[in-house]
Amino acid sequence: MNLFDVYPINPINIVRGQGSLVYDNHDTEYLDMYGGHAVISIGHTHPHYVKRLEDQLHKLGFYSNSIEIPIQKELAQKLGKVSGKEDYQLFLCNSGAEANENALKLASFYNGKKKVIAFSKSFHGRTSLAVAVTDNPKIVAPINETDNVIFLPWADEAALEEAFQNNEISSVIIEGIQGVGGIQVAPEGFLQKIRSLCDQYNAVFIADSVQCGYGRTGKFFSHDFAGVDADIYSMAKGMGNGFPVGGIIISPKIQPAYGMLGTTFGGNHLACAAGLAVLETIEQDNLLQNAAEVGGYLIKELNKLEQVKEVRGRGLMIGIELPEELAHARKELLNKHHIFTGEAKPNVIRLLPALNLTKAHADRFLEAFVNVLNQ
Ligand SMILES: Cc1ncc(COP(=O)(O)O)c(C=O)c1O
Repeated sequence: MNLFDVYPINPINIVRGQGSLVYDNHDTEYLDMYGGHAVISIGHTHPHYVKRLEDQLHKLGFYSNSIEIPIQKELAQKLGKVSGKEDYQLFLCNSGAEANENALKLASFYNGKKKVIAFSKSFHGRTSLAVAVTDNPKIVAPINETDNVIFLPWADEAALEEAFQNNEISSVIIEGIQGVGGIQVAPEGFLQKIRSLCDQYNAVFIADSVQCGYGRTGKFFSHDFAGVDADIYSMAKGMGNGFPVGGIIISPKIQPAYGMLGTTFGGNHLACAAGLAVLETIEQDNLLQNAAEVGGYLIKELNKLEQVKEVRGRGLMIGIELPEELAHARKELLNKHHIFTGEAKPNVIRLLPALNLTKAHADRFLEAFVNVLNQ
């Protein structure tokens, strides 16, 4: 049997990793400035992570959500503490798309309305509702098309106000920093405007934090920079450091009812062990501070390079926009300097490394990048 060929892949076979370094089957070392697509939050094979998962695996890997699972409560407690949203409620699932799917559905259960506001260049996932609020017609199948989604221009307050006028809006979904859309930071005033309109019209503010959340920007949620709370935060990627875990945290104003949401695998024992290992490490090793410091250093140094068109982002979520003639830079970084980075079209290099990236590794990247730019 062949694999269903949907990924344009690099011919590299990574077989092991440690921290921000990974190695291929010929033992060539690579610097991981991509974090396996923003997933590796505490570094590859972090010893505390390995031990927690190993210990859990020896005890119990899985049992269904029909029994008590104390480790879920432990995860919720720790997440409340580290994120500062202690009065929120946690629902666990398995991926970012699933988290957004549940968020949008829950919003509609809550206020009985159907319309959703999403923004140009947004990416929220590939399942039915998640893809319907994603601004990329190429990945929306005919069956996913719906009149319930209103796409608005990014950060256009007047358009936002206008869209609320009929009082039909169930929810607004927005990334605090657009990832796939090219690392665009949501203006703080715009997030505040969303908050006030959602309050005025009883709509639900959904903060998609799948890529920009979990400490990546130096605050737990990048939406926190605006000083307002969303009603639902969706999370995944960094949450399990590679173990598939997703979730939403839900404001106390939204009440649960039995059967409203559900999942077979979500919140299983192993996933919770992975989630706890990540949060414990974030807390113990001060990784929010590290992301802010090392990320701030990278942004400052990148801004000094005159070939770079623009540097965007916060903490360790950084977009480097290059002119067309330097479009080859990302490939050169990989092939010549063995450095993984991400991309966004057109000509944006995305940096999404582990939150414990060292300054030495940041310097290694900068040196290679300057070399590529000056060729
Ligand atoms: C902002 C955002 N939301 C949702 C998703 C979907 O997550 P997943 O691929 O885990 O379904 C992604 C994935 O890249 C994302 O970047």
